[in-house]
Amino acid sequence: MGKDIIVNYDHQPCYEIKIRDSFDELSRSIQLMNEREYLRICIVTDTNVESLYLKEVLLKLSIDYPDTYITSFTFEAGEGSKNLDTVNRLYQKLINDGFGRKDLLIALGGGVVGDLTGFTAATYLRGIDFVQIPTTLLSQVDSSIGGKTGVDFDQYKNMVGAFYMPQLVFINTSVLKSLPSVQISSGMGEVIKYGIIRDFEFYEWLDSNVEQVKALNNEAIEYVIYKSCMNKKEVVEEDPKEDGIRATLNFGHTIGHAIEKLSNFSLYHGQCVGIGMIAAAYISMKRGIVTEGEFFTIMNILDSYDVCPTLPALDANNIIAATKHDKKMEGDTIKFILIKGIGISYIDKTVTDNEMKEAIDYIFSI
Ligand SMILES: NC(=O)c1ccc[n+]([C@@H]2O[C@H](COP(=O)([O-])OP(=O)(O)OC[C@H]3O[C@@H](n4cnc5c(N)ncnc54)[C@H](O)[C@@H]3O)[C@@H](O)[C@H]2O)c1
Ligand SMILES: [Zn+2]
Repeated sequence: MGKDIIVNYDHQPCYEIKIRDSFDELSRSIQLMNEREYLRICIVTDTNVESLYLKEVLLKLSIDYPDTYITSFTFEAGEGSKNLDTVNRLYQKLINDGFGRKDLLIALGGGVVGDLTGFTAATYLRGIDFVQIPTTLLSQVDSSIGGKTGVDFDQYKNMVGAFYMPQLVFINTSVLKSLPSVQISSGMGEVIKYGIIRDFEFYEWLDSNVEQVKALNNEAIEYVIYKSCMNKKEVVEEDPKEDGIRATLNFGHTIGHAIEKLSNFSLYHGQCVGIGMIAAAYISMKRGIVTEGEFFTIMNILDSYDVCPTLPALDANNIIAATKHDKKMEGDTIKFILIKGIGISYIDKTVTDNEMKEAIDYIFSI
């Protein structure tokens, strides 16, 4: 049972993604990831995940690492904690506990915990080892892979960060059972994205296995996570620093991010990506590079997985203005991701405000 994926960086094997359905192999996987014997381990988590899984992980590690000092650091759950104040408190804890360069941080939680722990690991003593244990669907299929770490600064999302690779990504699929269903739907937004931008076969599989996936059937969910991780791995291996092809992972994110921001983060990330994907597919259809039939299957699959929420009242011009502040800008042009049919995406720098306006009007009309 389980699947292993090796992720390369600079054409060298860099870290492994292990997909399992329990924490049983966690300690062994940490032992196998390199030659190091850690004297200290700090598990970083948030208030929700602490009450669900911290005890179990702590217990497993303390049995298998009897001579290691194992401690934990918990912060308030939510995007509001993903900032330098929390990083500061974590630095303090690490200094007080005498953490050195050869010790280990473990991120136990969703994307917020992963991004913050990764950034702390990247910067504490110029870099210490860290392990990702992603516990949301979104973090298992997306944020824990690829080495992007960071925190928000004032109102700017992910403004301060670093590319920094984990030593291991350990995915326990059974933790998804405690995740609210809206978080599963949000994660499915990013999963479906892989199918639309580069993997038609996966897209068709997702379309035919809605019930099994939604029921979190073991085999189905393992397959979803495996295929998503493989897609992300292939893209980040080819373009680790987003100089080119990695930008296609931002399909649905230009308008999605703008809506996420204007809704004051009351909508989940993957939900906004879902709405943004409809808008991007709509623009592609209007340009005649996607057929009406393809466009409607995209609408249908997002609907089957309940990805898109009811939108709050937002002004189309404000959404367009917000897209201009996106980090995906290059000079004055937006790097928009469009599709030429399902499974093929490309970067387009010619999308006009009028095209966006029409697409936004459409998403508010459905
Ligand atoms: N680094 C990257 O490449 C990358 C990519 C995409 C998103 N992100 C970042 O990821 C973050 C979003 O991640 P997220 O959606 O995982 O959000 P999150 O970390 O806030 O988790 C969502 C909620 O689920 C709770 N939770 C986590 N695991 C649970 C479980 N198993 N059972 C019950 N509740 C659980 C959390 O406490 C939280 O309240 C954003 O900050 C975003 O910027 C990073
Ligand atoms: Zn995303």
